[in-house]
Amino acid sequence: MAAASGLFSFYVFHGHMPARALAHAARDASRRARIALGLKKAPPAAKPRTSEKIPTVKWSELCRASGVVFHESDKADGNVNLAELAVLNALCRACRPRELFEIGTFDGRTTLNLAANSEANVFTLDLPAGHATKFEVVGGDNKYVNKPASGARFTSEPNCRLPAAQRITQLYGDSASFDFSPWHGRMDFVFVDGAHSHDFVMNDSRVALKLLRSGGGVIVWHDYGVWPDVAVALEDLLKEQPALPLRHVRGTSLVVARIGAGGR
Ligand SMILES: C[S@@+](CC[C@H](N)C(=O)[O-])C[C@H]1O[C@@H](n2cnc3c(N)ncnc32)[C@H](O)[C@@H]1O
Repeated sequence: MAAASGLFSFYVFHGHMPARALAHAARDASRRARIALGLKKAPPAAKPRTSEKIPTVKWSELCRASGVVFHESDKADGNVNLAELAVLNALCRACRPRELFEIGTFDGRTTLNLAANSEANVFTLDLPAGHATKFEVVGGDNKYVNKPASGARFTSEPNCRLPAAQRITQLYGDSASFDFSPWHGRMDFVFVDGAHSHDFVMNDSRVALKLLRSGGGVIVWHDYGVWPDVAVALEDLLKEQPALPLRHVRGTSLVVARIGAGGR
């Protein structure tokens, strides 16, 4: 009896189940091939299911007690995602920067949030459309350069009246030729999110290091693992400066360097 049941289990696990899996895989492959050849209609994409019986809540409302402030939760193409915004806001609150610099304003969503989560004077540099650049701005970056206005999220009503918005200074220019010297050695927090080609990321990273206060501070880069050049440039930066404490924040495309006492 025991031998028969052993034989049956052996058949189920080593015969029946693999054969079934093989048959399903063959059926799926055949279905995909027929769809690709136009012999079969693709099934409609599954719609995400939500119920109107469950009311919605703004995630920012849930986080009020943490002291972290969120503005402009809605993400536009080009912005950091919601999780990244939460990390940036919390990190900024923890670091208590007095002076903060962002390279790459875009619509100013992150700028406004960093300002709101600190008492810092915030400087943000953006490339105006049509402005000459030292390095070529590559295809994918152009759509973020060519926009009606930089910083619209903090310059338009009602956000422009927020105390945080009053601490933001918009600067314009090409990060590879801009004169950063008035800001050198003054910054506690730098966010690098300008052009994403290798030359620009290397340039902007070196600029960020020069911007930091001598006691140190925090630099955050966006788009690690999203834009291939960002990863290559950060790895090249690490070859150039092996002591740099670069850390990829798990589950995000953020890389952080907390340098010296400023990175408390
Ligand atoms: C991806 S967007 C930045 C997104 C923004 N930091 C956010 O979190 O919402 C990139 C921005 O960098 C700017 N940019 C591109 N090349 C630049 C350059 N050479 N110098 C300064 N800014 C540049 C673009 O105009 C664009 O606004």
